[in-house]
Amino acid sequence: VQRHGHISVVIVGGTGDLAKKYLWQGFFQLYVKEINSGNSFSFHGGGLSPIEKGKPVLFEILKAVSCPKAVSEERCAVLKEQFLRLSQYRQLKTLEDYQALSKQIEKQLQEEGMTEAGRLFYLSVPAFAYSGVSEKINSSCRPSGGAWLRVVLEKPFGHDLSSAQALASQLGNSLKEEEMYRIDHYLGKQAVSKILPFRLENKKNLNPIWNKHHIERVEIVLKETLDVKGRIHFYDQYGVVRDVLQNHLTEVMMLLTMKLPKNISNAEEVNQNKLQILSSLLPLGKNQAVVGQYQSYKTEVQQELNQTTDQSVSLTPTFAAVVAHIDNALYEGVPILFVSGKRLNERVGYARVLFKNNIFCLQDHNSVHCKPKQIVFYFGHGSLQYPAILVSKNLFKPALMGKEWMEVTEHKNVSVLGLPITDYYVQTPREQRDAYAELISHIYAAHKSSFVSTEILLGSWYMWTPLLTSLKDTFPRNYPGGADNAGLLDICLDGNDITFNNMEVIINHDQMGS
Ligand code: BG6
Repeated sequence: VQRHGHISVVIVGGTGDLAKKYLWQGFFQLYVKEINSGNSFSFHGGGLSPIEKGKPVLFEILKAVSCPKAVSEERCAVLKEQFLRLSQYRQLKTLEDYQALSKQIEKQLQEEGMTEAGRLFYLSVPAFAYSGVSEKINSSCRPSGGAWLRVVLEKPFGHDLSSAQALASQLGNSLKEEEMYRIDHYLGKQAVSKILPFRLENKKNLNPIWNKHHIERVEIVLKETLDVKGRIHFYDQYGVVRDVLQNHLTEVMMLLTMKLPKNISNAEEVNQNKLQILSSLLPLGKNQAVVGQYQSYKTEVQQELNQTTDQSVSLTPTFAAVVAHIDNALYEGVPILFVSGKRLNERVGYARVLFKNNIFCLQDHNSVHCKPKQIVFYFGHGSLQYPAILVSKNLFKPALMGKEWMEVTEHKNVSVLGLPITDYYVQTPREQRDAYAELISHIYAAHKSSFVSTEILLGSWYMWTPLLTSLKDTFPRNYPGGADNAGLLDICLDGNDITFNNMEVIINHDQMGS
């Protein structure tokens, strides 16, 4: 039970990109939703710049927040005005700055005669700053009198298993596990957060088929059209496996394959069941991965990092397809495919569970029985443009995912993963919510199951690190980028191994060496 009182929200890095794009908007939505909850709020945007420089930047960001659709224009203006009054910029650089922040919070509580409910610090700063900031929070900003402390951290959480362990132990010196909220924004995506509820709600229909006898394969895919210009410094050290597969796609894989918890809000149970899956994965080796790099990547590296030609042979993959296998009685032999890449032909993200179809259609291949049987958790973009859960009509009619979801019955003429949309039962949220706004409301509600625990983080690095090590000197296959990528995406699964199926991919022999 959370007690009511005052909540201080501090965004460290409060004028940075992420804060500007998502965080202030998310906290404004929280404020609007909780305005009559009995809690009061203050918001602090912290930055390294002195107040004269930081204050106007924050003011511009705050002016741009928008109200939920249901709020009238008049009411929205009032709410924004109040939010502005409750928010302020402050320099957060030295220990003294953090001490001053804490003093100010205490003074305000005293003056207004309020009880303190808690302090929420959102660390929107590079990971190398985490341990320094956490130390300052620990030594000078802990609330007293039973109020909570929550510290939110963004990825990247390390570079491999040993760096993640080092970071985890540094953070562990300042913060308790229950105080850490490690964000993976995919866990806030509406179609992802419904995977467990969907499995639970449709248990009767799914139980008989959610196993190796019926599942042909599982695919977790994030295709992007953007390149990595502007992020090369970060990206060239990380690459697609660390950027997306180790975190977002692995979380989705765990939600799809973990043992169903009895209570999906029980963070400890969810955590244990996820860990069980991670520890049942067969080790990944070179033969389970194919990697690529879009053609103009090298030039981007050269330009942005001002490198000479000699140094510019970056082996960082911008595309990867990996096949994993779970070594347990339920999923033994079922390929689990992870695919992601930059500069591909479309932007789309989804997880698909494709079932075996043993029906032999002698005549009518259009008969509904002959079509693929699949369940798709569609994260958005692509042909649909909205998040959705789709179940082929030849499988079963799924239960509706709560009041905030609706069935889509009027269809545009689109197809999703090989099936016309009319061949699916389709559900979508009534209102689309941004993943960050969603997770901010989960931090507020202390829903720890929507965040990445230290054990899961290390378990996931344990899964990916050997593969990353074995790929270290591999030249990624060169691909054109843009609309012209068909060849690269033909991937061939051969037993436990994976290969590119199409030899038309452009190979730059100079780069490949002998
Ligand atoms: C981020 C990665 O974590 O996720 C980006 O760093 C990637 O490289 C992004 O583009 C994808 O998220 P979304 O929400 O756009 O699918």
